[in-house]
Amino acid sequence: MDYGSRILIIRPGKNAIEDHFDVVSELQHSLRSRGKTAEIEVADGWLPESGEVSYTRQQEPLGLGHAVWCARHLVGNEPFVVILPDDFIVGAPSCLQQMISSYANVGGNVVAIMEVPLEDIQRYGAIVPGAADKRLIEVKGLVEKPSPNLAPSRYAIIGRYILLPEVFKHLERHELGASGEIQITDALAYLVGKAPFHGCLFEGERFDCGDRIGYLKANLSVALNRSDVGPELASFVRSLSKRL
Ligand code: G1P
Repeated sequence: MDYGSRILIIRPGKNAIEDHFDVVSELQHSLRSRGKTAEIEVADGWLPESGEVSYTRQQEPLGLGHAVWCARHLVGNEPFVVILPDDFIVGAPSCLQQMISSYANVGGNVVAIMEVPLEDIQRYGAIVPGAADKRLIEVKGLVEKPSPNLAPSRYAIIGRYILLPEVFKHLERHELGASGEIQITDALAYLVGKAPFHGCLFEGERFDCGDRIGYLKANLSVALNRSDVGPELASFVRSLSKRL
């Protein structure tokens, strides 16, 4: 599926991220001169084409809402997707494809949600749920990092959003919210009631790669499913598990 132009919002000093998505011509040249075409495919086959990715800087760490606002000129006046890459989600169809299918039916704003234990909801944005239609739940309000006793639900927002450009008007105000940061959740709360707004209870497995244990689990889970390294890794994991 073609999601159109991609924008990466990065903080100063993270040039390595831009380089990661770029061609290393010395490597290409060296592999080509030795006839290693399969290796070129592995090294570069997945790279975006020229002009497919744009970059912008969040010059100060003022919060997620501020980071999204930094991309306002690149996004322009059309619906857009926000992906928080530390939320790694494995699903078939992907979480975003599930959301796009919902968006095709209901329009408006769509956020990915999952149910979490009540004691964990304070780590997330939570939705005030309305009517549910299978896995699509109406959003009647949003609260960033509520304490468990005040949480409106156990439905946590996970890092995938389909948003209308109106959100920029609210981000523009640079209002400080939870943790003294400019929160996307607070800007989204202003959009409730103005256009359709739904939470998509996606099917799939989510790993919180902002956390070391989540990162380790994601690597293990993905590697075990690969045909090249999976079988050997599986027997290694089985041998390790005897030690437990
Ligand atoms: C951000 C959002 C939060 C969301 C979470 C998902 O929080 O502000 O609403 O639930 O991502 O991972 P952060 O993890 O940046 O604290």
